[in-house]
Amino acid sequence: MTITSELIWQDQQHQTLFQLIDEIKAEQVDLSTFTRLIDYAEHHFSLEELYMQQLNYPDYEAHFQAHNKFRNELLKMLDGHQEYTPELREMLASFLSEWLKRHIFGVDKRLEAYILASERK
Ligand SMILES: [Fe+2]
Ligand SMILES: [Fe+2]
Repeated sequence: MTITSELIWQDQQHQTLFQLIDEIKAEQVDLSTFTRLIDYAEHHFSLEELYMQQLNYPDYEAHFQAHNKFRNELLKMLDGHQEYTPELREMLASFLSEWLKRHIFGVDKRLEAYILASERK
């Protein structure tokens, strides 16, 4: 695996997550919109976690817990009693994208730097 490919997967997956979050705000939304987002988030988080484990990342536990928090927030959205009004969806989407932005510019940036440094060794 090359350094360039590392950078590309993390960034591209983040972009896809933002796109999926945006879809929550669309005119036509059903359960599959939410499950696609949840599945993709799981795919992305597991990949980062795999890298952290393989590279013995020192901050693994905190980063893993941060992912778990997001996993829980996403699962809450599947609550069948909720009525997905446009207002609620707007609120969910902005909550999720704000969270993701903070995560990406915080812990994910540090993980990225660590992956790059490990590859240069
Ligand atoms: Fe992460
Ligand atoms: Fe990430």
